[in-house]
Amino acid sequence: MAQLSVDLLGVKLKSPFVLSSGPLSYSADSLLKATRAGAGAVVTKTIRLKKADNPFPHMVRIAPGTLLNAEKWSDIEAEEWITTEIPKAKAGGAVVIGSVGHTKEEAEALVGPVAKAGCDLIELVAYDEDSMIPMVEAARKQTSRPILAKVSPNWRDLPRVAADCRRAGADGITAGDSFGPTLRLDIDTGRPLIGSDYGFGWLSGSAILPIALRSVAEIALGPGGPIVGVGGVTKAEEALEMLYAGATAVGVCTAAILFGFDVFGKLNDGLSKLLDARGMAGIVAARGFSLKHLSKGERKVKLVFTYDAETCTDCGRCQDYCPYGARTVKRPEMTLDEDVCRHCGYCVSICPPKCLRATW
Ligand SMILES: Cc1cc2nc3c(=O)[nH]c(=O)nc-3n(C[C@H](O)[C@H](O)[C@H](O)COP(=O)(O)O)c2cc1C
Repeated sequence: MAQLSVDLLGVKLKSPFVLSSGPLSYSADSLLKATRAGAGAVVTKTIRLKKADNPFPHMVRIAPGTLLNAEKWSDIEAEEWITTEIPKAKAGGAVVIGSVGHTKEEAEALVGPVAKAGCDLIELVAYDEDSMIPMVEAARKQTSRPILAKVSPNWRDLPRVAADCRRAGADGITAGDSFGPTLRLDIDTGRPLIGSDYGFGWLSGSAILPIALRSVAEIALGPGGPIVGVGGVTKAEEALEMLYAGATAVGVCTAAILFGFDVFGKLNDGLSKLLDARGMAGIVAARGFSLKHLSKGERKVKLVFTYDAETCTDCGRCQDYCPYGARTVKRPEMTLDEDVCRHCGYCVSICPPKCLRATW
C-alpha cells in the first residue's frame, strides 16, 4: 500500500489532502470533522481584525463540481480563534494551518497570536500581489512557524510572485485561490445568482482545475519549493495530476462542500490505489512526475491512433463529432481519412470506453 504521509515544511501530515480555507473551516468542530474524515491538515477560515459581514446569497452551485461564491473571511472574531477555536482544534488532534488576511497591518497584529495559539503553519492570503510581500515580511518577524503565501491565479507572472514571496520570508506557496471575478445570471428574474457588488463572484471547483494545475506547474518549474496545490480537485485522479504538476500537498475546498467530509476518505483510498497501480511507493514518487514533459517547444509528430473493436460500443461519437469528418466507424472497422484529419486529438478525448487511443 502506497505511503500517503507527507512532510510539509517539517510538519508531518498523515495524508497530502488539506482542507482549504472556506465555509467548512469556520470553527474548530468543523476542522476536527475534516481531520477525522482523513484530511492531513486543515486551514482555518481566514482570520482578520474585523469579522466578515457576507452578502446574501453568497454561495451557489453553478455546474457539476463547480461553485460561484462571494464569501468573505471569517465571520467570527480573531480573538475567538486565538483563545478558543485554534487551541480546541489542536487539542482534538488536527494539524492546523492558521489563515491570516489581507493586509500588512493584520499580519503584524495577528500572525504572532494565531501562531502562539497553536497553529502548525501560517497561511497568508491577500487580494493583490502588492499586499502579499509586505504581509510576508511582517509575518516573518512574528513567528518561526513555517509560512505559506497563498497566491492567486488572477495574478500575472506567478513564478516571479512566488520567488518574491520566498525572498521575503515565505517557506512555501499555496497555489492558489478561487478565480474571478465571474458572473452568472438567473434567466427568469434577470438577477445575478449571488448578492455581491454587481453580482460578481469567485469560481472554484472543477472549472478551475486546469488553471490551478498551470499555476502549480509554473511555480514548480520556476522557483520551486514546497507547494500546496489548490483548485478544482474533486477526485483522486485529479489529485495525482496536482502532485505530478509539482505539489507537495493538495488543498480541497469545493469538493468537500459539494460532497461532504467523506470526500477525504475517498480521496485517500483512491490516491493510494492510483499510486499502487503505478508502482509508486508514496507521494514523493509522484511529486513533479510530469515536469520533465513540460517544456517550451511545440510537438510536430503526428498522432498514432489505435482502435480496439472489442471494447468499442459503436456510439459513433468519434465519427459524428469529428469537425472534419475524417473518421468512419463501422464496428469492427474504423477508418481514418488522413487527407482531412488534422491530428487534433479530439476524437480520442471523447471516446467513452477509451477504445480509441493515440500515442504521441
Ligand atoms: C465559499 C468559499 C469560501 C472561501 N473562503 C476562503 C477564505 O476565507 N480564505 C481563503 O484563503 N480562501 C477561501 N476560499 C478559497 C479556497 O480556499 C480555495 O483556494 C479555492 O476555492 C480553490 O479550491 P477548490 O477548487 O478546491 O475550492 C474560499 C472558497 C470558497 C468556495
